[in-house]
Amino acid sequence: MSTIHSFSSLILLLSFSLSTSAAVVDRRDPVPAGYVAPPYYPSPHGGWTVDWSESYRKASLLVSNMTLAEKTNITSGSGIFMGRCVGNTGSALRVGIPQLCLQDGPLGIRNTDHNTAFPPGITVGATFDKSLMLARGVALGEEFRGKGINVHLGPSVGPLGRRARAGRNWEGFGADPVLQAFGGALTIEGVQSQGVIATIKHLVANEQEQYRMTNLFQPEISSNLDDRTMHELYLWPFAEGVRSGVGSVMIAYNAVNGSACSQNSYLMNNLLKDELGFQGFVMSDWLAQITGVPSALAGLDMSMPGDINQVPLFGNSYWMYELSRSVLNGSVPVDRLNDMATRILAAWFQLGQDQNYPAPNFDTNTQDANGPLYPGALFSPSGVVNEFVDVQGNHAEVARAVARDGITLLKNTNATLPLSKNATLKVFGTDAEKNPDGINACADQGCNKGTLGMGWGSGSARYPYLDSPIDGLKARGANYKFFNTDSFPSNSNPAPGDVALIFINADSGENYITVDGNPGDRTNAGLNAWHSGDKLVQNVAAKYSNVIVIIHTVGPILMESWIDLPSVKAVLNAHLPGQEAGETLMQVLFGDVSPSGHLPYTIPVSEDQYPGSFDLIGFKLGQPQDTFTEGLYIDYRHFNKQNIKPRFAFGHGLSYTTFSFSNASISSVTPLTSLPPARAAKGPTPQYNTTIPPASEAYWPANFNRIWRYLYSWLDKNDADNAAKAANSSTKYPYPAGYSTEQKPGPAAGGAQGGNPALFDVAYNIAVTVTNTGNMSGKAVAQLYVQFPTGITYDTPIVQLRDFEKTDTLAPGAAQTLNLRVTRKDLSVWDVVQQNWVIPAVNGDYGIWIGEASDSFSLRCGTSTKSCVVG
Ligand SMILES: *[C@@H]1O[C@H](CO)[C@@H](O)[C@H](O)[C@H]1NC(C)=O
Ligand SMILES: *[C@@H]1O[C@H](CO)[C@@H](O)[C@H](O)[C@H]1NC(C)=O
Ligand SMILES: *[C@@H]1O[C@H](CO)[C@@H](O)[C@H](O)[C@H]1NC(C)=O
Ligand SMILES: *[C@@H]1O[C@H](CO)[C@@H](O)[C@H](O)[C@H]1NC(C)=O
Ligand SMILES: *[C@@H]1O[C@H](CO)[C@@H](O)[C@H](O)[C@H]1NC(C)=O
Ligand SMILES: *[C@@H]1O[C@H](CO)[C@@H](O)[C@H](O)[C@H]1NC(C)=O
Ligand SMILES: *[C@@H]1O[C@H](CO)[C@@H](O)[C@H](O)[C@H]1NC(C)=O
Ligand SMILES: *[C@@H]1O[C@H](CO)[C@@H](O)[C@H](O)[C@H]1NC(C)=O
Ligand SMILES: *[C@@H]1O[C@H](CO)[C@@H](O)[C@H](O)[C@H]1NC(C)=O
Ligand SMILES: *[C@@H]1O[C@H](CO)[C@@H](O)[C@H](O)[C@H]1NC(C)=O
Repeated sequence: MSTIHSFSSLILLLSFSLSTSAAVVDRRDPVPAGYVAPPYYPSPHGGWTVDWSESYRKASLLVSNMTLAEKTNITSGSGIFMGRCVGNTGSALRVGIPQLCLQDGPLGIRNTDHNTAFPPGITVGATFDKSLMLARGVALGEEFRGKGINVHLGPSVGPLGRRARAGRNWEGFGADPVLQAFGGALTIEGVQSQGVIATIKHLVANEQEQYRMTNLFQPEISSNLDDRTMHELYLWPFAEGVRSGVGSVMIAYNAVNGSACSQNSYLMNNLLKDELGFQGFVMSDWLAQITGVPSALAGLDMSMPGDINQVPLFGNSYWMYELSRSVLNGSVPVDRLNDMATRILAAWFQLGQDQNYPAPNFDTNTQDANGPLYPGALFSPSGVVNEFVDVQGNHAEVARAVARDGITLLKNTNATLPLSKNATLKVFGTDAEKNPDGINACADQGCNKGTLGMGWGSGSARYPYLDSPIDGLKARGANYKFFNTDSFPSNSNPAPGDVALIFINADSGENYITVDGNPGDRTNAGLNAWHSGDKLVQNVAAKYSNVIVIIHTVGPILMESWIDLPSVKAVLNAHLPGQEAGETLMQVLFGDVSPSGHLPYTIPVSEDQYPGSFDLIGFKLGQPQDTFTEGLYIDYRHFNKQNIKPRFAFGHGLSYTTFSFSNASISSVTPLTSLPPARAAKGPTPQYNTTIPPASEAYWPANFNRIWRYLYSWLDKNDADNAAKAANSSTKYPYPAGYSTEQKPGPAAGGAQGGNPALFDVAYNIAVTVTNTGNMSGKAVAQLYVQFPTGITYDTPIVQLRDFEKTDTLAPGAAQTLNLRVTRKDLSVWDVVQQNWVIPAVNGDYGIWIGEASDSFSLRCGTSTKSCVVG
């Protein structure tokens, strides 16, 4: 989401907006030939899967008794800054439905206190550890529940990380759909185990920050991608999140094939609700909704924060009272509104929020104890808004485990690491110590000063504390001298036995904040280290012979200007550690543990190694077009296809010890057929009276004391009556081409949450024994990549990650057998003609490669020989 976080900037924005003609906004450049956004109507009813039927039954009992104004009230926020949370729905107290509190973000609760600032998704991805992915999700769920938040606005699995410079890749788990899928699904399972509704976002193909939103001059950027790329890359993690029962999906700002995601019927009605069988509700990203009736018909269920897109805060909405009007005048079918309300309440029941769910006890708008209850109202009653409830529990432990096990050793010449306890250290770089202005000095972490624990934007949280690397050295009583500067100091007195530790970083974030000329995306910085980090490394390396570079980064950085210098002996990518940057790094530096992180993206030699379609899309008049001409070939899929050697491949990560992979076996489980078995028919969904209700259901109650600019679902009597008259007039709503009110049976590829359940049948089990062959303890990751059989008619990437497992800590000589699996879907291709997942060669020999990186395999198991060979 995005939030305009200061009133002065808001007023500026408003005065600017109001003085400008809105004429240009409609200028949409045509999408490139061949990309179309087909209509798909109506929006499928929710409730047809057995795992949600009890929640739908409960929800339908309420909905059948709700008035029009109650139903429309719960489908929208009450306005930006109109409550304690970043999103606050209207209530329906008569039937026992409170306002729902929606709050950022994926790495912890935004804008509050006594919370944990967990490491963000990219670090979680680097652990390649499913148990940590789940444990962090559970801890997040405990914290969100503890603050009284109904809906957690995470995890983020889109952007996928197609474009290294894109601002928000670090919120997700890495540049591969399967890594994102495990990260997202396990986070959802953890969060929802605590009764909190998780929100998987941003659907879909939100692959750069700039030009993402519609404004007065320009429509939102359009991501143009083909159907196969959609299914095999960008939609994949969403499918897994839906399969895990996610309660909510957030729609992205951008368009797909020229149609804004928030009103793209093919995306929401077909792909999400019919094919993936999503049973929860779809919300807009903040101010991403740009129309009323079309967005409702296209499958949007909740408008956030409720205001209209162009001029928030004036009490105007596309829904709320307008949705009441649209239902009364017959444009939005009662049936659609009933489904919207039912989906929202079903999610609430599904997560058990009808039983003893706490109310919000914090306020995202202020850190003070007291404040206005409706800061957006200008005249607002005041009261206690922050109760400072401590929700941290023992979550620092899981935060530390993630930060430590994500640390990725990229280079370690002559076993320079680990350091001996008594090493004489010279420490360089401002990234080693906390921001001297304060750890939370910049709103939404919108600056890069001091230790970088997270990127900036709505996906940030306030630090309760920040354990910096210098804190870590201090706590260990290490023998170090710190030069808190990014330019090489003349007074460091290099001595022959010294080890130099250099801290450099690279930041990015969300588009509403620009840091050092980077408007979210890394435009100005490129993929280089910030604050002249490259020069610092070169200068230190010229004077010291034992140099260790430690990087805190949102994504790939270029290292060519120093990585091969003879004195640069070791490089650690500590990703973004959140609040736990210090002790976790010490544990790796001094060898308490071996590093066990692996790169969740490829690090190139230069940006020229990427396809041209990864360049950021720059300014132009009209709708910017971002065409995914590279198709399936992102990250290592691209490098492998083009046979380009990057600096470090996806999955790379060294250890202080060594591992062997042996004793592998493959066994078939579910026999394959070229197409999955036919899906079951949809189960029943709630039945309602679909007659347009009387206009009186939308009348303002007598003597209601309104809050100025607050969004309500009621209409003046005249307005309501006129709307009801319009329903009978001959003027009909101009429905889009392909519009229908006839529910469809659903596509062959669907059938349950996540798609046809047969797609997730295990086709093969693979077991492999990992032995620690070195002389230190450590954890190994087995990465499983699939290679399609030769001679098939589909062009497929050479190898694709399909599963991974991490060992426990193995002592020298110890061994552990890991079990991995490939599913039917893992071995399938999305066939755009058949509109189904197809096994291209049922008896073909798939290569199941096991190794420690996408370019380093120890074993190949063949599905036709059912045997595994070394090499
Ligand atoms: C985008 O256009 C491509 C090419 O026509 C089509 O295959 C795909 O289904 C479209 N996707 C969406 C979401 O409209
Ligand atoms: C809801 O139920 C109550 C009690 O049964 C009834 O009086 C009321 O009319 C119902 N309201 C609606 C909108 O169906
Ligand atoms: C809508 O929600 C607001 C905020 O909770 C509440 O004041 C109002 O009464 C609700 N409207 C209806 C129709 O329940
Ligand atoms: C009904 O109301 C909506 C919202 O104001 C409007 O967009 C639509 O055109 C109206 N339909 C008719 C038939 O007047
Ligand atoms: C590694 O150690 C060996 C043996 O001590 C030495 O010859 C070699 O130069 C070292 N390599 C580097 C890059 O320091
Ligand atoms: C550190 O201690 C070890 C023995 O414990 C010794 O061999 C080594 O020389 C010492 N190094 C430094 C830099 O003092
Ligand atoms: C070989 O793998 C099997 C499981 O496939 C496991 O039970 C067995 O212990 C392993 N043998 C060794 C020597 O690790
Ligand atoms: C359906 O709703 C309409 C409008 O509220 C009402 O007049 C009618 O009696 C309802 N029908 C049934 C079967 O409840
Ligand atoms: C609309 O027409 C229906 C049937 O034709 C009638 O029952 C209803 O009262 C009319 N509504 C209004 C507001 O005129
Ligand atoms: C551990 O193994 C490394 C690499 O094989 C070797 O250089 C080192 O001397 C060994 N250390 C011990 C304590 O055996």
